[in-house]
Amino acid sequence: MIFPENFVWGAATASYQIEGAAKEDGRGQSIWDTFSRTAGKVVGGDTGDVACDHYHRYADDVKLMRELNLAAYRFSIAWPRVQPTGSGAINPAGLDFYDRLLDELLKAEISPYVTLYHWDLPQPLEDQGGWATRDTAYRFAEYAAAVHARLGDRVEHWATLNEPWVSAFLGYGNGVHAPGRTDPAAAMRAAHHLLLGHGLAARQLRAAGARSLMLVVNAAPVLTAAQVNDPPAEPSKADAAAVRRIDALLNRQFLDPALRGVYPAEVLAAAERNGGTAHILDGDLTLINAPVDLIGVNYYNPCIVESAPGTPADPAWPGSDDVAFTSVDAPRTAMGWPVVPTGLSRLLVRLSRDYPQVGLMVTENGAAYEDVVESGRVHDADRLAYLDSHLRAAHDAVRQGADLRGYLVWSLLDNFEWAEGYRRRFGIVHVDYDTQARTPKDSALWYRDVIARNGL
Ligand code: FCB
Repeated sequence: MIFPENFVWGAATASYQIEGAAKEDGRGQSIWDTFSRTAGKVVGGDTGDVACDHYHRYADDVKLMRELNLAAYRFSIAWPRVQPTGSGAINPAGLDFYDRLLDELLKAEISPYVTLYHWDLPQPLEDQGGWATRDTAYRFAEYAAAVHARLGDRVEHWATLNEPWVSAFLGYGNGVHAPGRTDPAAAMRAAHHLLLGHGLAARQLRAAGARSLMLVVNAAPVLTAAQVNDPPAEPSKADAAAVRRIDALLNRQFLDPALRGVYPAEVLAAAERNGGTAHILDGDLTLINAPVDLIGVNYYNPCIVESAPGTPADPAWPGSDDVAFTSVDAPRTAMGWPVVPTGLSRLLVRLSRDYPQVGLMVTENGAAYEDVVESGRVHDADRLAYLDSHLRAAHDAVRQGADLRGYLVWSLLDNFEWAEGYRRRFGIVHVDYDTQARTPKDSALWYRDVIARNGL
């Protein structure tokens, strides 16, 4: 099973999850610093203060990437390092860190994929309303331009936002993520302002000469449980309508404005019922519809729904009234997520069919399992099997015509898994948080060989 020539193989991380050094070199506060210090929000009261100490260990971490044959590394920039208050003065010392990291990556012949926003909003911007406020979109574009001005000479691939659905609806809807607000109208506004920020930033970057731009989404196939079967069962009319509506809220809410300059009717209806649409100004959709080269797809599991009249909207899903979120009979990861590799092939084929003007890249895919270190080895057979089956699904999608350009595993390192703290391990490399020792798991050694032969 050989992948196309020039297929890009790599791994991904995010700033707050790995960097640590929360108070060094002028870094400001992010909403995750505040949230992780709020009692009851993160399992075990864990914070990103130290994390994987990547801020100090980046050179060794890049060496490790090189040993694992990675050709690409996706990481994110911490906005509060670069612009401690989220607006105004740039902190050159914060950019210096990424400057050093980039030089190390380029020396190791690893292509950087830079994500500008992976959830660590400067706290002062949240204090002024955060993503629920329009101004944040303009602040984001300014910050993006400042990062490009310093790093653009060495970075070809830029992602604006990571998973705006999660930022908006877990951050402002069900409050499971920072900033922990629970206001459906604010969540709908946040989604729009994130999109606006994406469009404004993409335009700035393009004007400044950025070669390749992408938006990274947590897209997932929305299915009834019976549709997951092989062969899939035809849904009832009511179930098909539930599928369509949730697909609009999860996938098309972001992809249609970004790639076609329109909102799905279901999304406008959800906004109407949750605060209205006055925040969507004339011209916004044109700004949002900035040309991009790639869609980054973070896939973990499908979204399973059924029609359930009388069920109130889930707080993370304004507009999901009369729908139940269920699951399927499948093996589960330590997150409780069902393992459904065919979800990835369906998703990629569908995205290339519906949005043929952009290429696709799997920007995250991976799994948390309970790992044990035994005489310096981690025999993570479950994770290896998860990755193997999803790569087979990705290959199948390519065979069916999906324009898939690369695959980045989540994650290089075990790290701070947001509200789950450090107890959930997604790394192909184990991190001992007491000693910061890195131990490549069996999955990492396997992945190294997959990359070497460009396939399975
Ligand atoms: C994604 C996030 C990433 C990581 C994985 C498990 O939603 O983008 O940071 O937490 O889930």
